[in-house]
Amino acid sequence: MTSCGHTTSSSGARCSAEWCWRRPRQLRQNEWNLTVNATSRLQLIADRVTSALTPVMRELRITEDELHAAGDFLDRVGQAGMCKSLLDIAFAMTAIDTRRHGIPGTRTNLEGPVYRPGAPTRATNNLIERDLSPDADLLVLSGQVTDAVTGRPMSGVELDFWHADEHGRYDYDGNHLRGVVHSGQDGRYRVDTIMPVDYAEHLNDPIGELLAMLDRDGYRAAHIHLKVRVRGVERLTTQLFRGDSPHLDQDYVIGAVSEDLVVEPRLVGTVDGHRQYAMSFDIAVPPLPADHLVEGS
Ligand SMILES: [Fe+2]
Repeated sequence: MTSCGHTTSSSGARCSAEWCWRRPRQLRQNEWNLTVNATSRLQLIADRVTSALTPVMRELRITEDELHAAGDFLDRVGQAGMCKSLLDIAFAMTAIDTRRHGIPGTRTNLEGPVYRPGAPTRATNNLIERDLSPDADLLVLSGQVTDAVTGRPMSGVELDFWHADEHGRYDYDGNHLRGVVHSGQDGRYRVDTIMPVDYAEHLNDPIGELLAMLDRDGYRAAHIHLKVRVRGVERLTTQLFRGDSPHLDQDYVIGAVSEDLVVEPRLVGTVDGHRQYAMSFDIAVPPLPADHLVEGS
């Protein structure tokens, strides 16, 4: 991002702020990635948000001190580089659900920050690359991929999975518990992996402080991330949740968990001393946005 560079009136130094209202309007619009109506769009959002919050301010008699405490907190969130995370936690699912409203198919969910493109294709359907802890449980996840519009099975669909390990940690260096499998002729797929567990993500940062003050425990319900691609084109990003997670009702990402994405595990046996569970999750592939416009027109 280019800094502003105007001369400040107080010190005479050149401004180095990445974000400054004295920068040319065009630059600011580009940063927001807004289009021709950028200014009016921003004005509309600002007006509506202000209008919506004003009655809340009055009703709760929010004080200047409370406003400034909130400002100090947001400063710390910014210094920690977590403003996007905070907005995602609070509002991303509302944005996602609004964008997908009326489009058939499996519900979309957050991609989250740990997706890495280029995970290997798993010819054996197995995502496990490392030795497991004795307490790790195995999982066979399977289901059928169908076209959400026609209901027909879809073969050759790329299912790109990633999830945390038995300690709640993602593999950032390799591809343990990451990989792509394809649906077969009947649309069915299978992936061999381990059971994800609930994990805490913000125990030692400002977002964690806020969650604690709100009497929330900062855990994500155990989940598996999934991207669905058809002939290389992404059609769906979602998460499926482990039905026996104790945090289904208090996942800190507001609105992330919904009944249609919760899958009950079934204990099916023991393999090499590890309990093995099975979960079934069918995937209805939404149409491309353009297809949907044609369908709906
Ligand atoms: Fe995750």
